[in-house]
Amino acid sequence: MSVHETADPNRRDFLYIATGAVAAVGAASLAWPFIDQMNPDAATLALAEIEVDVSQVADGQSITAKWRGKPVFIRQRTDAEVEEAKAVPLADLKDPVARNANIAADAPATDENRSAPGKEKWLVMVGVCTHLGCIPLGQAGDYDGWFCPCHGSSYDTAGRIRQGPAPENMAVPPFEFTSDTIVRIG
Ligand code: FES
Repeated sequence: MSVHETADPNRRDFLYIATGAVAAVGAASLAWPFIDQMNPDAATLALAEIEVDVSQVADGQSITAKWRGKPVFIRQRTDAEVEEAKAVPLADLKDPVARNANIAADAPATDENRSAPGKEKWLVMVGVCTHLGCIPLGQAGDYDGWFCPCHGSSYDTAGRIRQGPAPENMAVPPFEFTSDTIVRIG
C-alpha cells in the first residue's frame, strides 16, 4: 500500500466527520424553536406576580390562590397552631431548612422563618406536596397541619414535613404583605 493510497481514506474520514458535525449543528438549531415554543408565553409570564386580598380570611381560615399554575395556601393560623409550631424542637424536624424564598437558602425551619415577617399568624406556602406533587388537605393528619392523601405525608401547623415519604417542608414562595390585607405573591 503506497503512501498516496492511505492518504485518501484519511481525507474521506475527515470529510465524513465534518459533514456529520454540520448536520448535528443544523439539527440542533432546527430543534430549538420546537422546544422553546413549549416555554411559557408572554400571557403566562404576566401572571408571574399576583395580589390577593385576604381581608375576608378570619382567624383559623385559609384560602387558596392560584399562582403560576400552582395552589398557594394562605392561612391565618389560630394562636394554638402558632404555639404548637413554635414548641417543636428543630431536632424533631425531618427537614430542618426553612424552604422560604424570602430568606437565606439555609435558614433553619423555625416557625418564625416559615411565617410572614411581623405577622406570625400568617402562613403563605405553595400547596404542593414535596413528595410527588399532590395537593395536601388542610387541617388534617397527625400534626394538625396538612395531610397528603396520595402517600400519607403529614405536615405540621407551619407546613413542615413531619411524617411520610415527602422529603421537604412545603415551599414558601416570594411574597410580602403590601398592606394589612393585601399579599403580593411572586
Ligand atoms: S405526593 Fe404527597 S405523599 Fe406522595
